[in-house]
Amino acid sequence: MANSTLSTKHLLGIKYITADDINLIFKTAENFKDVINRPIKKVPSLRDVTIANLFFENSTRTRISFELAEKRLSADVVNFSAASSSVKKGETLLDTVNNILAMKVDMVVMRHPAAGAHHYLSKHIDANIINAGDGTHEHPTQALLDAFSMREQLGDLKGKKIVIIGDIMHSRVALSNIFCLIKLGAKVKVCGPPTLIPKYITSLGVEVEYSIKDALEWCDVANILRIQLERMDIKYVPSLREYAMYYGVNKKLLDSIKKKIVIMHPGPINRGVELSSDVADSEQAIILDQVENGVAVRMAVLFLLAGNRSN
Ligand code: NCD
Repeated sequence: MANSTLSTKHLLGIKYITADDINLIFKTAENFKDVINRPIKKVPSLRDVTIANLFFENSTRTRISFELAEKRLSADVVNFSAASSSVKKGETLLDTVNNILAMKVDMVVMRHPAAGAHHYLSKHIDANIINAGDGTHEHPTQALLDAFSMREQLGDLKGKKIVIIGDIMHSRVALSNIFCLIKLGAKVKVCGPPTLIPKYITSLGVEVEYSIKDALEWCDVANILRIQLERMDIKYVPSLREYAMYYGVNKKLLDSIKKKIVIMHPGPINRGVELSSDVADSEQAIILDQVENGVAVRMAVLFLLAGNRSN
């Protein structure tokens, strides 16, 4: 029989949840997707639950998506962004969070530049913690909404061929996507310049393909990632112009392959670098469907984790 609760109290990363957890999130998200397409988009599921969104790093989509998901579940929401907080005065992460929790907060959604910040917090606080991105490590809700969107296009992902293209080394979306897709039985390849593909990557069960044309010929879906220049302290590619020439996905390249594949991107897009506008805005791209699905998937995660609260 299918499970009806998650195996975990927190969502720290896809690495720590099971395929059953992922499928339960998808099933719940399908119901919430119906809800948010109704004229009345709000349900009372999280009434009296207070959620703090703590963003220690920039975000547009993820922050708005979580806030909308929380409001559509009728939760009480408080928002915090590091730029305007006492973090700038030298307060520690644990002190900041404990002060917020003293105001009776039940769940914490956090984005933080340090990989592992969520793990550390989970050892010290009682609230449910949801990772909205920790440095170059994981971004679990992005991977869930990506896989949910792929499933809408292709059905069951078992045996489906997915290529992740770009800055695999610095992208938390890449790592969470790999964990998620492998757990769901998909075949995964990564593609990008050798300097941006970590040496350990094949130990995660993926293959490396350096030729973008061969990667596109092989796959059903291409998930294209941004070059994370802000995370690079040395130069990994000679120039963005050169990157676009060798690894940029454009219409000419897509027209040169024999089949029609699904194009995805988590945003923000650097138009003309990893993806050209004629592809990003084409009907082959499901980038805005990903954004729409993000709200439903995050509603599912929040709803299911709230069911696992200890208090
Ligand atoms: C990603 C992120 O922040 O990791 N964006 C997102 O959450 N939609 C990807 C990126 O910044 O390139």
